[in-house]
Amino acid sequence: MHIRWKHVAIALAILPFAAVFAVWTGLFNVGAASGHWKITDWFLHFAMQSSVRTYALPVEVPEPLPREGLAAAAGHFETGCAVCHSSPDVPRDAWARQMLPEPPALSDVLASDKWTDAELFRIVKHGVRFTGMPAWPTQDRDDEIWAMVAFLREMPDLDAKAYRDLAYGPSSANAVAPAVNDLETLVADCARCHGEDGMGRGDAVPVLAGQQRTYLEESLVAYAANRRESGVMTQAALDADADLFADLAAYYADLPRADMETRTAPGAELVERGRAIAMEGLPDDDIPSCDSCHARLDRNPAYPAIDGQKHHYLQTQLELFAEEKRGGTSLAETMHEFSRHLKPEDIEALAAYYSTLEPQ
Ligand code: HEC
Ligand code: HEC
Ligand code: HEC
Repeated sequence: MHIRWKHVAIALAILPFAAVFAVWTGLFNVGAASGHWKITDWFLHFAMQSSVRTYALPVEVPEPLPREGLAAAAGHFETGCAVCHSSPDVPRDAWARQMLPEPPALSDVLASDKWTDAELFRIVKHGVRFTGMPAWPTQDRDDEIWAMVAFLREMPDLDAKAYRDLAYGPSSANAVAPAVNDLETLVADCARCHGEDGMGRGDAVPVLAGQQRTYLEESLVAYAANRRESGVMTQAALDADADLFADLAAYYADLPRADMETRTAPGAELVERGRAIAMEGLPDDDIPSCDSCHARLDRNPAYPAIDGQKHHYLQTQLELFAEEKRGGTSLAETMHEFSRHLKPEDIEALAAYYSTLEPQ
């Protein structure tokens, strides 16, 4: 008995060296062309499904799934996901079919009830190791990921035309190749989400028309450098030629501000409370008057105009500031100084108030 244990111990000690030696010989095939053995394939997908199921347990699913960002999510799917997963409009790229494992055509997967909403959230946020399925470009924007989950739920019901209408809107542009360097093509690409009039498609996409030029340009720089967190806009900014950021900013700053589509007006009491904070701040909570900057745009060309901005967008940005998840231009510090003191009810009131104002 004594001797047998000794043998086992020696064998265990040698095992790692034997394994490294076997790999060092190079006979282990890492090529993707010949595929996995069936058992490896089964095992890997089993491991992935089990992991996703377990890590999705604590995820809280918003009820109902948010729909404000549906158009932007579809637009992002077109440039960020369809190459690997197909869309109702185009099949996935040929090279994607040679990946190991091969990314599935998602409409087929989603038509079944293989994944719950929480599991889809987990996959899209964190990606899948060893497979080529990427994580969301930032871990700070759960709202964008929920918008993507809402879109994924919708996708199996969309035919090619309905999908294009959602991902492109009335814009006739096609998804552009990365680093495009002519303004006209780029503006057509931005129009997929921001609309040809710069008013934004859906309540999650901000109005750019008439916004301050310097603020727009510096925001594009911030997205491209990942100093402002958004998976959707970081991709759009990186796909554009940075030499054209100044021209893009000037283009949108000069667009006339169109009338906003009619929306339900927030309650008068909420708006009144928002107005009071905007004008006087909340000195007890160290919150300054918002208007001291946002109503005095002449003081600094990098202060954004927020009068008449989209309600849902304002609310999201203030929540991100309060949670210390929103970077931005070199002046973002001025917002960071006090934003963590903002309470949910302050944010609600301020977003309501500013969304009802006439644009400056
Ligand atoms: C570079 C290719 C690639 C891109 C881009 C990509 N994926 Fe994937 N994705 C994969 C691969 C490969 C798998 C399979 C993982 C596995 O089977 O373990 C996968 C799996 C998934 C799954 C689980 C499907 C299943 O049943 O296996 C979902 C959902 C998904 N991706 C959504 C997305 C979304 C949404 C995007 C865009 C934000 C995206 N993917 C971008 C490669 C990609
Ligand atoms: C796939 C959809 C999509 C595309 C394409 C897109 N955007 Fe955006 N854009 C968004 C969303 C969503 C936001 C809000 C992001 C956030 O929460 O930070 C945004 C925000 C912005 C902002 C910040 C505005 C503010 O008030 O802070 C600028 C500037 C901007 N986009 C410019 C552009 C330009 C220029 C292009 C074309 C090169 C473009 N976008 C393409 C969806 C898109
Ligand atoms: C000292 C000046 C200053 C004060 C005071 C101030 N802000 Fe700001 N605010 C800024 C600057 C500068 C930015 C641009 C941040 C960036 O992205 O770099 C900004 C950004 C914002 C944005 C995002 C705009 C967009 O298009 O994404 C909102 C919303 C906002 N502020 C609301 C408020 C509210 C509400 C208050 C009052 C509670 C307030 N601000 C007080 C300077 C100020």
